[in-house]
Amino acid sequence: MNQPDAKIHDEVAQLRATLDDANYRYYVLDEPQLTDADYDLKLRRLQEIEAEYPALVTPDSPTQRVGASPADGFPEVQHNVPMLSLNNAFDEDELAEFVHRVAARLEVEPDTLSFCCEPKLDGAAVSLVYRKGELDAGVTRGDGHTGEGITSNLKTLKSVPLKLRGKEWPERLEVRGEVTMRHADFEAMNERAREEGTKVFANPRNAAAGSLRQLDPRITDKRPLEFSAYQLVGQDMSSLADIDTPTHSEQMALLREWGFRVSPELDVVRGATGIIDYCRRLGEKRDRLGYDIDGVVIKVDDLRAQRELGFVARAPRWAIAFKFPAQEQLTTLEDVEFQVGRTGAITPVARLAPVSVAGVTVSNATLHNQDEIARLGVKIGDRVSIRRAGDVIPQVVRVIEEERPADAREIVFPECCPVCESQVERLEGEAVARCSGGLYCPAQRKEALKHFASRRALDIEGLGVKLIDALVARDWVKTPADLFTLTAADLAGLPRMGEKSAANLVAALEKAKRTTLPRFIYALGIREVGEATANNLARHFGTLEALMAAEQADLEGVEDVGPIVAAHLHTFFRQPHNRETIDALIAQGLTWQEEAVGERPQPLAGETWVLTGTLEQLTRDEGKARLQALGAKVAGSVSKKTACLVAGEAAGSKLAKANDLGVPVIDESEFLERLAAWERGESPDPTANEEAE
Ligand code: IVH
Repeated sequence: MNQPDAKIHDEVAQLRATLDDANYRYYVLDEPQLTDADYDLKLRRLQEIEAEYPALVTPDSPTQRVGASPADGFPEVQHNVPMLSLNNAFDEDELAEFVHRVAARLEVEPDTLSFCCEPKLDGAAVSLVYRKGELDAGVTRGDGHTGEGITSNLKTLKSVPLKLRGKEWPERLEVRGEVTMRHADFEAMNERAREEGTKVFANPRNAAAGSLRQLDPRITDKRPLEFSAYQLVGQDMSSLADIDTPTHSEQMALLREWGFRVSPELDVVRGATGIIDYCRRLGEKRDRLGYDIDGVVIKVDDLRAQRELGFVARAPRWAIAFKFPAQEQLTTLEDVEFQVGRTGAITPVARLAPVSVAGVTVSNATLHNQDEIARLGVKIGDRVSIRRAGDVIPQVVRVIEEERPADAREIVFPECCPVCESQVERLEGEAVARCSGGLYCPAQRKEALKHFASRRALDIEGLGVKLIDALVARDWVKTPADLFTLTAADLAGLPRMGEKSAANLVAALEKAKRTTLPRFIYALGIREVGEATANNLARHFGTLEALMAAEQADLEGVEDVGPIVAAHLHTFFRQPHNRETIDALIAQGLTWQEEAVGERPQPLAGETWVLTGTLEQLTRDEGKARLQALGAKVAGSVSKKTACLVAGEAAGSKLAKANDLGVPVIDESEFLERLAAWERGESPDPTANEEAE
C-alpha cells in the first residue's frame, strides 16, 4: 500500500481545517465564506486522498459525517445527568411570581437578579458528549433518564461539531440543545414529499424528531436539521465544576467559541420587568424568526445561585418556561373552494370556522391538491387541526376522525374549471390539476395580466388588481396585447377612474412599450420562468426570434434551464395563440434592444459585499452566487471597504458595525430589486422600493 508522505499529511490537515471552518461559518455563524462549488471540490479532494490512504481517515474528518450502513436499531443510553423538564408560566403574573420566589429563596432584592432569556426552541432535545474534544455520543432525550444513541445521525448535522474548536475544553464535555428545522426548509421538504408521495410531516418538530430516528444516516443527512446548544452540563446539572465561568450566559459564549450554534436571540435582563419586556419583544418577533418557538426559557444567570436553588420534583427552581399561544388549533372545515392560479393550477382552499391561532384569526387554509385531500382523509364538516407559522400559508395538518359528524361530505374535485368550465387536466406524474382554458379562462387571464403589468415585468404604473378585474369582466382585454388598444376615453368610463387617471394610464402603457428582452420574456408568464431564467435566456439567445425557434436541446443548454423548464418553454412558443399574442404585442409597438449574447454584465466588479441575518426569499448561497455573477466579491465580515451590507431579519453585530463605519445597508427587498435590475443590465433605481399595486 502507498505510504502518504509529509506533503499529503499537510494537505489533509489543511483541507480538514478549511472544511471544518467552512461548516462552522456557514452553519453556526451564518457567515458563509467558501462557495458551494469550492466546498465540494475540497471535500472531494479529501475523499480521494482518504480513499487512497485509508490509514489517514479519522472519525472526526469532515468526510465521516455520513456513515455508510443503516443501523439495526438504536442502543439505549443512560443519561449521566437526567434530562429534566421545566415548569411553565402562562402569563406575566406568573413570571413575576417566579422572580419573587427565586429572590425570596436567595434572600436578595428581585430587581437585582439577572436572568438569561432564550427562545424555547420547538424541536427535539438531544445531548452530545465530547471526550478529549471529539464527539463521542449523541443521545435523544427519551424518558429523561434513558435515551436512544443516535450518534451517526447527529454527526450528519453540520452544526454539530465533530471536533471542538479552540482549546481548554474539559476532558469530558456534555452539551445539550435542540434539533430544529426552519420553516422554509420544512415547507420545501414537505412540498417534495407531496410530489413524490412520501411521508409528509405535520410540523417542523415532528419532522426533526422523525429525521433523527432514521435508521439510515444517509436519510438524516438529507434533512435540513440544525442543532442549537442551550446548556452545558456538569455533574450537579447546573454547572461544570472544572470550567471557570460564573454565569450561564458566559457558558453559552464559551460554547459559541467551541463551535456550537447558540441562539442569537439570547439576552441577559434584570428582574421581572426585564423578563416581561423580553417576552413581549420575542413574542412580537415570533412570526418573523423563520423557525418555531413555543415560548421563552428564563434562567437565573448566576450559576452559584442556580446551585443554591436546586431542583424540585422534575424541574429546576432556577428556570421557567414562558409559553406562547399554540401554533396549532382545532376548528371545523365548513367548505372547500377551488381557486385557479395564473398557470391554471387548481388549489383546494379550506373555508374554516374562524379560529385564533397564535394571535391571528384564521378562516382559510390550503389543502394543496387532490392527493393531499386523500392523504388527510378529510371531509367537509370535519374537526381539523390547523397550523399557522410565520408567513407560511395556514395548513390543515390532521383530521380528528373520532369527531366526524354523521353528515360529513366527501370533497369532490371539480372536473371542470370553476371559473371558465374548461376541462380540468391532471398530467401523469403531476400532483397538480390544471384548468385547460389558458387565457380563455378569466381567472388565468387576470393573473396573467397582473403578472404582465407587475413591476419586474412591464412595470405598467397604475394598472392595479381592481382595474384588471374590471377590464376582464367587461371582456375588453383578452390578451396582454389588448391593453395597448385601450384609449383614455374607454378607461375614463370605468368605476373609480377619472379623466386624469385614465390619461396617466395611457401614458404609462405608452412608456411600458419600451422595455428589455429579459423583462419581456419574464412578462410572458411562462411556467417556471422567473426573472433569473429570463435573464439567462435573453443573454443566451440574444433575440426573441432565436429563443422562439430554439429546440428542447438548445434550451437545455442555457444556464439553470433543465428539461422541465425547457419543455415549458418549447410548448409555450409552439402554441398558436401565444405566437399571436406576441405578434400582436410587437405590432402594438413593444420594443427592446437586443442583448449582447454571452456577455454577463459585471456592474459590481471591484466591490465587496457582505450578507448577514436571515433572508426569506432566497438562500445566502443564492444571494452570494448572484452577486458574484455580477462581479462582486462576497466577504464574511464588514470593513471600511465594504461596498454594501445586505441585512436580513435578525441582523446583529455586522449591522451595528456597518452603521458605525457608515457602510451602506439595504434590506432584502431592496437587494432583490437591485439584483434583478443589474441582471437585466439596468441600473437600479434607488428610490423605487414598493410594488406598484
Ligand atoms: S433549558 C432542566 N433552554 O424545553 C431543563 N430548554 O421543558 C433545562 N428547550 O425538553 C432545559 N429551548 O428540550 C432549555 N433554550 C432552552 C430550550 C429548552 C427548548 C426544551 C428542552 C426541554 C424542554 C424543557
